[in-house]
Amino acid sequence: MCGIVGYTGYRDAFPVVVKGLKRLEYRGYDSAGIALHNQSLHVYKKMGKVADLEEHVVGKNISGKTGIGHTRWATHGEPSDRNAHPHLSASGKLAMIHNGIIENYNQLKQELLQKGYQFKSDTDTEVLLNFIDEIKENNHCSLEEAVRIALKRVTGAYVILLVEQDAPDTILAARKGSPLVIGVGKGEHFLGSDASPMLEYTKEVVYVNDYELAIIRPDELILKNLGNEVLTPYVQKLDIELAAIEKGGYDHFMLKEIFEQPQTIYDCLRGRLDAHKNKITLSGIEQYAKEICNANRIIMVACGTSWHAGLTAEYIFEECCRINVEVEYASEFRYRNPVIHPGDVIIAISQSGETADTLVAIENAKAKGAIILGVVNVVGSSIARISHAGAYTHAGPEIGVASTKAFTAQLAVLSMIALKIAQLKGTMPAERISALLSELEEIPGKVQQILSDTTGIESIAKKYATARDFLYLGRGYNFPVALEGALKLKEISYIHAEGYPAAEMKHGPIALVDDQLPVVFVATRDSYHEKVISNMQEIKARKGKVIAVVSEGDETAINLSESVMTVPVCDEMLAPLLTVVPLQLLAYYIGIARDCDVDKPRNLAKSVTVE
Ligand code: F6R
Repeated sequence: MCGIVGYTGYRDAFPVVVKGLKRLEYRGYDSAGIALHNQSLHVYKKMGKVADLEEHVVGKNISGKTGIGHTRWATHGEPSDRNAHPHLSASGKLAMIHNGIIENYNQLKQELLQKGYQFKSDTDTEVLLNFIDEIKENNHCSLEEAVRIALKRVTGAYVILLVEQDAPDTILAARKGSPLVIGVGKGEHFLGSDASPMLEYTKEVVYVNDYELAIIRPDELILKNLGNEVLTPYVQKLDIELAAIEKGGYDHFMLKEIFEQPQTIYDCLRGRLDAHKNKITLSGIEQYAKEICNANRIIMVACGTSWHAGLTAEYIFEECCRINVEVEYASEFRYRNPVIHPGDVIIAISQSGETADTLVAIENAKAKGAIILGVVNVVGSSIARISHAGAYTHAGPEIGVASTKAFTAQLAVLSMIALKIAQLKGTMPAERISALLSELEEIPGKVQQILSDTTGIESIAKKYATARDFLYLGRGYNFPVALEGALKLKEISYIHAEGYPAAEMKHGPIALVDDQLPVVFVATRDSYHEKVISNMQEIKARKGKVIAVVSEGDETAINLSESVMTVPVCDEMLAPLLTVVPLQLLAYYIGIARDCDVDKPRNLAKSVTVE
């Protein structure tokens, strides 16, 4: 949440920072702003998207070789020009941007008010900035020292970037709980919430850790901890190409990412799955194979779409490995004082690897002796680093705010882990495992088949785009897919949608059914099929509009439906990898039909780094 960018070097900072902000706009787009150092500090900021900021600066002085920029997802204070970052300190000598939440800002604010400070915004950021400013002025110390003193008083999460009137080419950065990457160039440095703003300039990056502080100049990067000890920056080489973060001819990132799934699932399986040899290789997980096999339970911890992947994995793991699985919302788990025994295995699932609730949930569990395995997409992210071991999903950068390809990659990885453990524990017949491995290998081709003609789904989307509510129903492995389908629709089209276990709908939601309500069934041929068919009859009898995702050739389901989306025949355990795809497309095309900004849905941000 909130995107931050910084640059200091020989280029003009404005275009570098603004381009970077556009890349990070998926993190928030309530307002955008930039501070440039050009003899003095120049701050420009505007409510709205980065494009609004660009318009706002037309005719203004935007020169300067050092700059910091921000794209905001509002927490403290409504989206407005005055709450936009960067903020200027009362002395006018410091400009700062911030991603995160300063939890004790009110206490700090009261102290500053008593000292006569006045505030121009409602933000926690301006409070922290003036708190730093006040320490600096009062103690006659350097900015670095003032930041160090201030951060020892702060509770909450932050990445802050500061530029100072008296230090024309210096950016000071600090982090706790929110992501910060520094790009190392020749005679220049870049900063970003992720690596995308710097990709076209450098592949050498340093991931800053919590409680670290960096002093960055064109030719110098000094990394310290809050105790003022100098640290050696660990420079890593990025393995991402620029094309991966561009739209590549698609209208939206979401559509591009849906269409990438045959490749991303393939990439995720590549080198790990060899169906001919009945072999799965997941070196990170194998280190802990004994512990996983002996575990009394596995707890999946995640949020949103990743939680839906966890819920699907519960069905898969229990079937394959006969281990008790619990699936927890990270935001509940972290505050609930859950019972955790040393040796419990926690699987943290996260696309970004930065979701604040998931991060803290696993930190807490780790402290209680649990083994933490990460199923994470972003390499080097906080959750990946804090986990004992794990398996990356290798889906490549996901930029569309609604998660699509990350979900299928998570399912692919989780299925491989479950099948690996089943092999080791001997909890599933070898022939069944072998059949599932072969099926898994065929999934990319089957997803490609679904994507080869999407005109049917587009027409269905147009037909129901004006509906006020949707109900999504599924059973067994397809129940979490119903939840995911409903979430996608809500996010992208702002239509109210609910996902439910198909049989459970009789216990309440059936009261909603009338001749206006589209009900989407995820009804592939599986062991629940007859039951789901009965549920479809029940909806039809009440004049609900039945839309169904069905297996190819399933005439019974087709005849009961007003509209159908077909998927290739597949083993029920792996069906979610297919059934979710038409639902992603349905949400996308309904969003388009309703003229919604599908890549930047209102109020959302991709990486939820505040709790
Ligand atoms: C939904 C979506 C969110 C994320 C959730 C967790 O389309 O994108 O629900 O799934 O915020 O994010 P990660 O997976 O990054 O931890």
